[in-house]
Amino acid sequence: MSLEVKHVFYTYQEGSPTESHALQDICLNVDEGEFLGIVGHTGSGKSTLIQHLNGLLKPTKGDVLVDGLNINRKEAKGKLKELRMKVGIVFQYPEYQLFEETVEQDISFGPRNLGLSDTEVKQRVKESMELLKLDYKTLRKQSPFDLSGGQKRKVAIAGVLAMKPKYLVLDEPTAGLDPRGREEFLEQIAMLHRQGMTIVMVSHSMDDIARYAQQMIVMDHSRIKLQGTPQEVFSQPDVLDAAGVGVPSLTRLLLRLKEQGLDVRTDLIRMDEIKDEILRALAARGGNPSC
Ligand SMILES: Nc1ncnc2c1ncn2[C@@H]1O[C@H](COP(=O)(O)OP(=O)(O)O)[C@@H](O)[C@H]1O
Ligand SMILES: [Mg+2]
Repeated sequence: MSLEVKHVFYTYQEGSPTESHALQDICLNVDEGEFLGIVGHTGSGKSTLIQHLNGLLKPTKGDVLVDGLNINRKEAKGKLKELRMKVGIVFQYPEYQLFEETVEQDISFGPRNLGLSDTEVKQRVKESMELLKLDYKTLRKQSPFDLSGGQKRKVAIAGVLAMKPKYLVLDEPTAGLDPRGREEFLEQIAMLHRQGMTIVMVSHSMDDIARYAQQMIVMDHSRIKLQGTPQEVFSQPDVLDAAGVGVPSLTRLLLRLKEQGLDVRTDLIRMDEIKDEILRALAARGGNPSC
């Protein structure tokens, strides 16, 4: 079971003088249970790509398969609702899409549309609020507009989680959050992943991707420039530079130390491994590393 993108092209306003080739020959596989990170400069095609994952946009050319179902073929007709349930997309700044009078009503909107019973809807609202550490009792009757920015965003995301998607796709979910809100939020996403949810996360933060993603792609001018584990991708700083995305700060530190003559590996991404590696390299060089 997986999301498969096969040789997908997408052109906005095809045929008009302002047409824009937003995706060109994109191939991608997201296996069930995986955490995929997507990075790339502004305008590289990230948001366009993820909107293909649940059929919001249809490829100009190529195919998108969700658990084997080709979403552009006739066979998918009538199954679009099922598909949208399977693949939940959280858009950038989702809090701007809140519109109901209370938090509970807002989160209920999706599951209610699925035709679930009142009891089931209520249960799902409760569960998804708990998952995001939103207190059901105190918040459910409040207006979403009275909440803080971070909480509003969580309410919007709870609305997507309440549909119980198998694949959760997030477009720059931490943009505009303060460092604490960001950290807390990413931990919650990581927890959903540990519980078995497949995550696709677009982020402009290489540090976040380095910490959480198992696989990643780097987009550059409508194409996939690099693809692999974060370790594989970050070992090519020149390509990343050319794609306008840079490397995570810890990788930068290792590269800098190497430039200065310290014999360290530069393909590590975890803080604890990096610390051990630097201490090892210093010890190997001789002298007392703590002086
Ligand atoms: N609705 C649209 N109409 C026309 N062009 C668009 C539209 N949305 C995006 N584009 C263009 O498609 C390209 C990719 O955009 P987008 O997918 O939003 O990139 P990213 O999310 O990486 O910033 C850009 O050149 C952008 O200007
Ligand atoms: Mg975008």
